[in-house]
Amino acid sequence: MYWYRVERINNELKELGCTTGELRVEDLIPFDQFHPLSTVALDEAANQLGILPSSQVLDIGSGVGGPARYLAQQYQCLVTGVELHPQMCKAAIELTQQTRLSEQVNFYQGDITTIDLKGQSFDYWIAIGVFLHIPDRSTLFSRCFELLKPGGSGYIEDFFQRQTFTAAEKAQLTNTLACPYLPTRDRYLVDLAASGFVDLHFEDVTHLWQPWEIQRAIEFEQNKSRHLKVHGEQIVQTVSHFYRVIANLFEKGNIGGARIRCQRPID
Ligand SMILES: C[S@@+](CC[C@H](N)C(=O)[O-])C[C@H]1O[C@@H](n2cnc3c(N)ncnc32)[C@H](O)[C@@H]1O
Repeated sequence: MYWYRVERINNELKELGCTTGELRVEDLIPFDQFHPLSTVALDEAANQLGILPSSQVLDIGSGVGGPARYLAQQYQCLVTGVELHPQMCKAAIELTQQTRLSEQVNFYQGDITTIDLKGQSFDYWIAIGVFLHIPDRSTLFSRCFELLKPGGSGYIEDFFQRQTFTAAEKAQLTNTLACPYLPTRDRYLVDLAASGFVDLHFEDVTHLWQPWEIQRAIEFEQNKSRHLKVHGEQIVQTVSHFYRVIANLFEKGNIGGARIRCQRPID
């Protein structure tokens, strides 16, 4: 999945008339944030974690680098992104060069559960809309624990299971969202604690995400003729289906949105 995301950004940049040369972080925000509530979610993460200009932040599943660039510009922190998808990671590096933020923001391509980060550890990590793709929570959370300095904190925005999914919903999650597994709130917290995390905070933000997901699907349909002109049939069909599936899942109420904070204890 996500094959279309880099092409979609390139099409939008062409439409803005700025394929090469300098770019501003704010020009990219309408299409480089792949999670509910765009930069509002990042301000929430920065405030909850207490990110400072000197902070070293790991962005797990960094996509095309939108969240990393926004945090670096807004909070003057240093951000390292890890992204599985090679094309998205390449785009993240190029867009960051074009926004002149490469001294503050760097990226590694690879799987967060196995990548060698040469012993680096971080004050904070964020994982925005990523863990739904990684079913082996034991390996994932142990790795995330190791990547924090003692006393450091992690911040997750993710889907979770509020009520039992139907067979059709399970199929949609797996096939359209590449999400083969979603834990309940309690399971999430038990698994984080089992990997050593303490000071766990879980906030159910479904009431914020549900209207946002529904509105996103509606707006995409309303602007379909514009999107067809800019992106062509194949991308528009894929994105439209993706947005509709998520909106329907949120409308039915079995899926929820979570903001979770956790800490590695001081040794
Ligand atoms: C919904 S996107 C969110 C991207 C970014 N966090 C954002 O909010 O714009 C999820 C991203 O996680 C990446 N991802 C999935 N599994 C991963 C893994 N095991 N290691 C690193 N990245 C992963 C995907 O390739 C994708 O770019």
